[in-house]
Amino acid sequence: MSQHILTAVAWPYANGPRHIGHVSGFGVPSDVFSRYQRMAGNKVLMVSGTDEHGTPIQVQADKEGVTARELADRYNRVIAEDLTGLGLSYDLFTRTTTQNHYAVTQEIFKGLFDNGYIFPKTTMGAISPSTGRTLPDRYIEGTCPICGYDGARGDQCDNCGNQLDPIQLINPKSRINGETPVFVETEHFMLDLPAFAEVLGTYLQAKQGDWRPNVLKFALNLLGDLQPRAISRDLDWGVPIPLDGWSEQANKRLYVWFDAVIGYLSASVEWARRSGDPEAWRQWWQNPDAKSYYFMGKDNIVFHAEIWPAMLFGYSGIGARGGQAGSLGALNVPSEVVSSEFLTMEGKKFSSSRQVVIYVRDFLARYDADALRYYIAVAGPENQDTDFTWQEFVNRNNGELVAAWGNLVNRSISMAAKNFGAIPEAGDLTDADRALLERSRRAFAPVGAELGRSRFKNAITEAFDVVREANKYLAEQEPWKLKDDPERQKSILFTALQVVDDAKTMLTPFLPASSNKVHAMLGGEGVWSGMPEIREVDEDGGRPYPVITGDYDDGARWEHRPIKPGTPLAPPVPLFKKLDPKVVDEELARLDNPEG
Ligand code: MF3
Ligand code: ZN
Repeated sequence: MSQHILTAVAWPYANGPRHIGHVSGFGVPSDVFSRYQRMAGNKVLMVSGTDEHGTPIQVQADKEGVTARELADRYNRVIAEDLTGLGLSYDLFTRTTTQNHYAVTQEIFKGLFDNGYIFPKTTMGAISPSTGRTLPDRYIEGTCPICGYDGARGDQCDNCGNQLDPIQLINPKSRINGETPVFVETEHFMLDLPAFAEVLGTYLQAKQGDWRPNVLKFALNLLGDLQPRAISRDLDWGVPIPLDGWSEQANKRLYVWFDAVIGYLSASVEWARRSGDPEAWRQWWQNPDAKSYYFMGKDNIVFHAEIWPAMLFGYSGIGARGGQAGSLGALNVPSEVVSSEFLTMEGKKFSSSRQVVIYVRDFLARYDADALRYYIAVAGPENQDTDFTWQEFVNRNNGELVAAWGNLVNRSISMAAKNFGAIPEAGDLTDADRALLERSRRAFAPVGAELGRSRFKNAITEAFDVVREANKYLAEQEPWKLKDDPERQKSILFTALQVVDDAKTMLTPFLPASSNKVHAMLGGEGVWSGMPEIREVDEDGGRPYPVITGDYDDGARWEHRPIKPGTPLAPPVPLFKKLDPKVVDEELARLDNPEG
């Protein structure tokens, strides 16, 4: 049965290029999942965009000496290029500074407000005494009042995961200039999270056994301490508050996280309009059978497993205060929050400022996207914090991609091309032939099941088992020694090529570009697995901007396809680049001396 599946991918801040830590959390996993779901015949809508408001953008803009809008324009484009380079198959990758996003955000605010889930409150806001400027939450650091951790930020403690208000911090200090902030009265809007305690509890409890255990545990923990949460800020860069007396105030804006999560919905609406059927988004948001999967790093869990579901419930009129659905209608809450853990880099935390970083575009200038995608799938931070090392990257590239998979493709196609010029016809199959064919055909179900549950490591490991068995089969059958027995040689190569075709299909979600090459080498026609592209679009009457989109209505299906004997074969080109072991030292030297 074909299902509507929303793949909702975390929105990167438009404050710099993306590094491989970022894309290992949200980017590659969401794309592997989406490609698999499309192959399985489901109707996937994969959306995201750049997150362009709030202090992360403002602070970087100040640093670079440009306006927030200029900064966002710059990095929206850079990030769109980074993600396209990795082959991430967004149906729409847009941005949060569109008119459409403002309109949808304000609609959600009004719906929540009308149902009583948003209320104004006078609170204490931090200002920097020397400059008189508002000091953003995340730029205040101090000791966590809950767990005692030293480096807690004003918005959140990364140690215990609790949401904080800056005024709760013990010994607060500005991270910008080290001074102690002063707190002054200011009026803000609050999201009444305690009013969702019951619905969120029921919602999350039902996910036992379904979500990754760490994600669910983290989310359930948060329920213990639900407090009303400020969703506006004293800042001039953000979505205006859509209420009389407030929208006019240049220094009151919605909190960046409030508008960013709404991006999933606004991007779906924008996608529908661009696709020519403005109502099409409803299939993914209102159809009770539709499923939605949200991909992110673990520092985003609270916003996706607690705040965003609360916003969706409240807008739909579900919560302690009841209410009615807003004008868009009731909206689906996330089916699953798929969060990964953190990737570190040669034992250290990624940090652009300390140059502990590998930017996606630098990586792609030297290595193929599929090599990184493979590494992330097989050795990424799926269930625990994980370290990226260049040594492991080179080992896996050379030992697994080149020596196992690339070699299987290469030697079976080149032998068949050289001896027969085409896919050979099989004669009588032996038990060994049949066993391998059977083994390969039977891998589709378990590998697919793992992919459908975002268990990427298991999935790629099982798919690679087939590759390893095929190599073992060739080593045992030694077709290269059978010059005198072409009939037997044909059967062996037929078997090997069929397994190459199966493995290519199973590896497509992980390795789309190289799978397309294998498809072509085996004489396949048409586009096998579609690739994203950047298109320049216009906003009604507004500024033009780039989006990522693509045609993924391609040939790839999650099934065994019988190869066709007689299909002409050309000598193959190498699938992957073998890396010189010197690469490790070169890259480590680059890390120590980034200019070099
Ligand atoms: N910009 C945030 C970050 O990089 C992620 C935003 S995800 C969204 O951590 F849901 F809010 F869009
Ligand atoms: Zn804490």
